[in-house]
Amino acid sequence: MSEELKVVNGTKAEKYAELLPQIQAVVSGESDLIANMANVASMLHETFRFWWTGFYRVVDGELVLGPFQGPLACTRIAKGKGVCGTAWAERHTLIVPDVDAFPGHIACSSMSRSEIVVPVISQGNVIAVLDIDSEYLSTFDDTDRENLEKITSILTIN
Ligand code: SME
Repeated sequence: MSEELKVVNGTKAEKYAELLPQIQAVVSGESDLIANMANVASMLHETFRFWWTGFYRVVDGELVLGPFQGPLACTRIAKGKGVCGTAWAERHTLIVPDVDAFPGHIACSSMSRSEIVVPVISQGNVIAVLDIDSEYLSTFDDTDRENLEKITSILTIN
């Protein structure tokens, strides 16, 4: 495929519909998970212009910062801590409409107002989380959840 991302002007659902096959094409041609995480973070970030888009990988029992787009971020998060560590411990997607209302939220950036964290599950284990931050309140909904869960499952096919 061409190395250039095609981004449509349209609804969130239309943007995801355009994005998913492009992610599938990129990921199916590469077996290295970190390389694929890097391109997925880039493609999501460029499509939606989020504040921060990236991965934390499970390494030796904690989350360690992986490929991302956006400002400087905290490097390590313990299991059960913050939105990321909670999504890992609970093994499901967390949508946080207002980060100030989430007990224990870890503020890597004071600009972040809302957040979604999706676990990346491979062979029954959480191997990473996809974390996206927005500078606006209530950015994320079920459309994001459904599509980001599809994207994280594509990531682990190789
Ligand atoms: N807010 C996250 C920490 C990671 S940064 O947002 C990039 C959390 O509470 O886990």
